[in-house]
Amino acid sequence: SNLKPTIFIIFGGTGDLNKRKLAPALYNLYTEGYMPEKFSIIGTGRTEFTDEKYQQELLDSINEFSRNGKVKADKWEKFGVNIHYCPIDITSQKTFEDLKENIEKYKAEFGEDTQVIYYLAVAPNFFPLIAECLKKYKLTGNESNSRIVVEKPFGHDLESAKELNLLLDGIFTEKQIYRIDHYLGKETVQNMMAFRFANSLFEPLWNRNYIDHVQISVTEQLGVGDRGGYYEGSGALRDMIQNHLLQLLCLVGMEAPISFDADEIRDRKVEVLKAMRPFKPEEVSYNSVRGQYGKGWVAGKEVPGYRHENAVDSHSNTETFAAVKFHIDNWRWQGVPFYLRTGKRLNQTSSLITIQFKDVPHHIFSSNVAEIWQQNRLIISLQPEMSIRLQVQAKRPGVDMVLNPVDMVFDYKGTYDTDTPEAYETLLLDAMEGDQTLFMRGDQVEAAWELVMPIINTWENKTSLNFPNYPADSWGPEEAEALIARDGFHWFTLP
Ligand code: BG6
Repeated sequence: SNLKPTIFIIFGGTGDLNKRKLAPALYNLYTEGYMPEKFSIIGTGRTEFTDEKYQQELLDSINEFSRNGKVKADKWEKFGVNIHYCPIDITSQKTFEDLKENIEKYKAEFGEDTQVIYYLAVAPNFFPLIAECLKKYKLTGNESNSRIVVEKPFGHDLESAKELNLLLDGIFTEKQIYRIDHYLGKETVQNMMAFRFANSLFEPLWNRNYIDHVQISVTEQLGVGDRGGYYEGSGALRDMIQNHLLQLLCLVGMEAPISFDADEIRDRKVEVLKAMRPFKPEEVSYNSVRGQYGKGWVAGKEVPGYRHENAVDSHSNTETFAAVKFHIDNWRWQGVPFYLRTGKRLNQTSSLITIQFKDVPHHIFSSNVAEIWQQNRLIISLQPEMSIRLQVQAKRPGVDMVLNPVDMVFDYKGTYDTDTPEAYETLLLDAMEGDQTLFMRGDQVEAAWELVMPIINTWENKTSLNFPNYPADSWGPEEAEALIARDGFHWFTLP
C-alpha cells in the first residue's frame, strides 16, 4: 500500500489483546497488502524478551487466533522481521529513553515522513502515566506524524472520563487521539450507515410515524472467564451499554450526515446522545433492570455462578446483565422506546437490532390480528449471523386467506464469498490512514457517560439485591421480560 512508513508501538505488547486481536489483525493486513511498505511493530512490556523470542510468541498467537488460520511461512519470513521488542518499566526513565532510541533508529531508516502510532493496550490506570511519559520524552510529535490509540474502558464514570480527556488534550490534539470502540469496526455495524444512507427506501419510514420501537440486544453465552478482576469494577452497564450499545443506538437514531467526513458523522451521533432523555433517580428502577448469573448447565457441563468466578467477590453486586428503556426527545423519535439489553451467560450469542414497524391503520384480515402487526419488522443481525431481514406478512399458499410472516433476507454468507475482516483490521488500518470516522470523539464518550451516570449512581446506592437472579443459559432475569412485556412486546430473538 502507499501508506507512510509506520512505527507501531504496542504498550501491553505481551498482553491478551495484542495476542488475540492486534497481532493477528496486523498480520492479516500485511497478507492482504494493506500494510505500509516500511513498517516496524515494537511491542513493549515488563517482561524481558529478545526480538526473536517475541517474534515467536506472536507467531504462536497469530497461528492460534487469526481468522485466516495458520501463518504461511513465506509471508511470515517477510512480516516477522519487522517485529521488535523493547522492555518498558513505566516508572523508569531509562526505558523511555530506550524506546525513543528505537523510534529514532527506525525513523532514520524509513525517512522523514515516518509516522508513529502508540497503542495503549494496557490496563486503564496506566493510560495517564504513559501519555505523560510520551510528553516528557518528547515523543508526541504532531498531527501529521503521530497518533495515540486508547483502548476501552475510557474512564470509569463521567468524572474520570473528563479527566482523561483533559489530560490527553493537554498532550495531543483531538486529531491525534483515537478512542477505540471495536463495535464500530465490525463489518455489519459499518453497513448500518450504508444501509440507511445509500438507499432511499428506508429513510421515509425511519421515524416515529412508522416505527413503533427499537430493540438492541447483545447477548453472550460466555461467562466472565478470566476477566473477573477487571469486570468486578465494571459490570454490564459500563462494559457494554455505555459504549457498544449506545453507539449502535446512535447509528439507528442519527440524522443523515451531509458527507462521510469523520467529524460530520460524529456530530450527528453526539446529537442523538444529547437528545436522549436523562433519568431522574426515581425513574431508574422503572426503566432499567440489572441481573447477575448464577450457576447452571451449558452444553451438558455445569458452570459456576458469577460470584464463584476467579477474582470475583463472593458477595459481589456487579451486574452481568443490564436492560434499559431509553427515549430520544426529538422530532424523529418522540414516543419511540429504544430497549437495550446485554448480558453474559445467556442462552444465545447474538447481536440484533430489531426495528418494529407500527400496525396497519385498519385490519381487513380476520386471522390473529393481535399478533400479526408484530411481524412487520426489520431485523439487523450483526453477529454471529450477518444478515438483514425484512419480516413482512404474506398470504400462505392455499385456498384460504391465511397470513403468514415471511422474511426477505440479505445474508452475507449467501451474497459474498469473501471473508469479512475483523473489526481490529479495519480500525488499525484507519488509524494508520488517519481516518477517525470509526473512533470515539471526546465529547461523544462524555455524553454517553452522562447518560448512564444516573443509572450507575442509583444502582450503587441500592445494594441489597437478590443476586444471582438468573441461571446460566437463560434469557436473563424475569424483570427484563417484564420491562418490555408491560408495553406489549417481547424481546425478539432469531430462531
Ligand atoms: C468487550 C467487553 O468490549 O466486548 C467484553 O469488554 C465483551 O465483556 C466483548 O465480551 C464483546 O465483543 P464481541 O466483539 O465479542 O461482541
